[in-house]
Amino acid sequence: MKHLWDIHFLLHILLYLLGAVTSQVNPGVCRYPLGMSGGQIQDEDISASSQWSESTAARYGRLDFEEGDGAWCPEITVEPDSLKEFLQIDLRSLHFITLVGTQGRHAGGIGNEFAQMYKIKYSRDGSRWISWKNRQGKQVIDGNRNAYDIVLKDLEPPIIARFVRFMPVTDHSMNVCMRVELYGCEWLDGLVSYNAPAGEQMMMPAFPVYINDSAYDGAVIHSMTEGLGQLTDGVCGLDDFTHSHVYNALPGYDYVGWNNESFQNGYVEIMFEFDRTRNFTTMKVHCNNMFSRHVKTFRQVVCYFRSDSDWEATPLIFSPGVDEKNPSARFVTVDLAHHMASAIKCQFYFADAWMLFSEITFQSDTAMYNTTLAPPKTPPSTQPEDDPTHKVDDSNTRILIGCLVAIIFILVAIIVIILWRQVWQKMLEKASRRMLDDELTASLSIQSETFAYNHNQSSTSSEQESNSTYERIFPLGSDYQEPSRLICKLPEFAQSSDEPGRWTHTSNYGQSPMSDVLSYIFLSCVPASTSTAASKSTTTTVAQDGVPHYAEADIVNLQGVTGGNTYAIPALTMDLLSGKDVVVEEFPRKLLTFKEKLGEGQFGEVHLCEADGMQEFMNKEFLFDIPEDQPVLVAVKMLRSDANKNARNDFLKEIKIMSRLKDPNIIRLLAVCIYSDPLCMITEYMENGDLNQFLSRHEPEGQLALLSNAPTVSFNNLCYMAAQIASGMKYLSSLNFVHRDLATRNCLVGKNYTIKIADFGMSRNLYSGDYYRIQGRAVLPIRWMSWESILLGKFTTASDVWAFGVTLWEILNFCKEQPYSQLTDEQVIENTGEFFRDQKRQIYLPQPVLCPDSLYKIMLSCWRRNAKERPSFQEIHRALLE
Ligand code: ADE
Repeated sequence: MKHLWDIHFLLHILLYLLGAVTSQVNPGVCRYPLGMSGGQIQDEDISASSQWSESTAARYGRLDFEEGDGAWCPEITVEPDSLKEFLQIDLRSLHFITLVGTQGRHAGGIGNEFAQMYKIKYSRDGSRWISWKNRQGKQVIDGNRNAYDIVLKDLEPPIIARFVRFMPVTDHSMNVCMRVELYGCEWLDGLVSYNAPAGEQMMMPAFPVYINDSAYDGAVIHSMTEGLGQLTDGVCGLDDFTHSHVYNALPGYDYVGWNNESFQNGYVEIMFEFDRTRNFTTMKVHCNNMFSRHVKTFRQVVCYFRSDSDWEATPLIFSPGVDEKNPSARFVTVDLAHHMASAIKCQFYFADAWMLFSEITFQSDTAMYNTTLAPPKTPPSTQPEDDPTHKVDDSNTRILIGCLVAIIFILVAIIVIILWRQVWQKMLEKASRRMLDDELTASLSIQSETFAYNHNQSSTSSEQESNSTYERIFPLGSDYQEPSRLICKLPEFAQSSDEPGRWTHTSNYGQSPMSDVLSYIFLSCVPASTSTAASKSTTTTVAQDGVPHYAEADIVNLQGVTGGNTYAIPALTMDLLSGKDVVVEEFPRKLLTFKEKLGEGQFGEVHLCEADGMQEFMNKEFLFDIPEDQPVLVAVKMLRSDANKNARNDFLKEIKIMSRLKDPNIIRLLAVCIYSDPLCMITEYMENGDLNQFLSRHEPEGQLALLSNAPTVSFNNLCYMAAQIASGMKYLSSLNFVHRDLATRNCLVGKNYTIKIADFGMSRNLYSGDYYRIQGRAVLPIRWMSWESILLGKFTTASDVWAFGVTLWEILNFCKEQPYSQLTDEQVIENTGEFFRDQKRQIYLPQPVLCPDSLYKIMLSCWRRNAKERPSFQEIHRALLE
């Protein structure tokens, strides 16, 4: 789990560095995940009113996590209007919270519980709880529509709190589970409340102006007590106070204001209470100065300081001067001269008939803060970050310099760690490659040109644990198999009549009398119709501890071990060598004759071989153009004999998956050699190599090709090849297999432009530039990846569709150019952020010269921001055939 955080953290740093400068009080920027998904919030700080079981405890309520049974679920069904259940987060200090995210329980397709609505309560001290309501006074927030999508909601007004509770709300009795995240930043002002006279109403000739504090969360009778509100919501009012940033708001909404006539002393007194004693440097008051309407900034302020229980005798007095020339609203900065205080009482003197404030902020000495610098994270954004209406606290240079120094320090440390890791990894790779070379030279010299490997010899070396660190790691890891009900569609996973209940076991290993049978089961799979919480009682079993569990099926990512990433599929439990579930036959390896090496991965090699008598192993459909007595050309993917146990298991899993993929446009597994080492997969041979190289050596039909005498491919054949890829993907998606690395480099070309999809992973040097390496470990084909795969680690059929769009683009460019070739990897990631923000700043791949509008439209539809709006492979296939 930790390495996934590392990678995400690094990505965030990257995006952060590319992004805007942050300020803790700018709501447009203060949108960092506060640590539910990132793990910074500790388990003990997440609590709940109740829990369904240990495996759905509060600590599993982390957004985008699949641990436990996949979410927090309360003990009983949630009834309408009973606000008893809640998931509570203690942030340990005051935070400015601008956004919340919720998600239901998906648990790899087994869960289907979510909160359609919820309310939020918050507290700054843990005892007084306040119900959040939006600017229109509505408390209920619309939540999730399904168990997997994350729904983000802006909090308008934002919350300043230490404790936050999510309270599921339902309109009928139902089971609810939640995963949540809070977004914001630490509230460095430390202000806990301000008490002030209630704001008033100004009668203008045409309309009244409401300058009360409508977001105040304390008590309001004649005065406002023990709350925070519009003066701390981060939104500064406009020059013309009758206008507002808030859509549809009443005139004067952004300001809190008072009339001179209501105050005999000529001043408004505001008392500010803080979380602790602080060393104050400045106070900034955002004031309106529309003097044509008799509104001016204050002419003087007198501030008293209280540390412990005593008020200091001598006040601080500051007179900013009255401006009758410039009607702009502005911050007036009051130097608080390093007074130590836990409360400040300021008397603001009128300079005219009205005094209107929209923000008051405090800067205090950071040396007293008992906080560490939070890691930079990407703020989710639904509004422009450079929105001028949000105040940017730009004068506190000390804090900024401190932060910058800390960031530089962290970055230097990270760079050192990355370099160190890379050097170490290279050493390991070199060492293991040397071992492989020695092994193979010895083995091949003994075997001459055949694959008659000595079983005894290699089996001993296969027991050795290899230090190879090949792995493809994705930012968040978990796969969303959307839609979840398709998981069980794989024919072998459907309930078979001769083995009833084969796939209905849950996660209570070894307890069931069926455990013998279960060890051969590939998939922990419960049909979606029985996986809802409403049917918990029928789909759960009793675990060792007697606690009922939600049915579950872990999703694992299979990593091809010979350099090929395989498809993401539901969790497998398998015993391949038992032979019980092998649907592919063992081929006598002595009948393989080596012809040439086709490729090499970190865990093995791919050879072109002649296979004697392979006809008997092939289905009839393959045989029509192969003479019966001639050897068949095959590709043999071979695991190096010193591969470690994980690599061996993954190789066997890859066999298992490939053996079940039977489609004319997916590379077919013909036979295996697994009774002895080295393990081999024998697949069809495609004589024209991969599509990328194939198209690179060809030209479009036309004058240019005639002149250069280059081989050509017609436009129709390009479409034919694209349609075959779509067809192969249609098949994979019908099984809910997610490829994750669709690209021309992973498609093979046979005779007559036939195409079959394969997956060679990222191990071929030729294509190393197509993969982005993070932290020396994660390798991502970012130029083919959807925004949600890069930013959320979410891989679905819809993200395969995105990659298909890029693949189509490659095809129409004859693979002469890498996607986004003019952008660096970092700029590609930055562009991904733009796809996420969707403010028309994202750069799309351009329409290839050869590409008609209709095809470019297909590409653009594959790159739609909303995954649900992207076409299915079925639709793409149909469109390409047209
Ligand atoms: N693996 C690598 N090259 C291949 C080819 N041409 N056909 C099948 N599998 C392969």
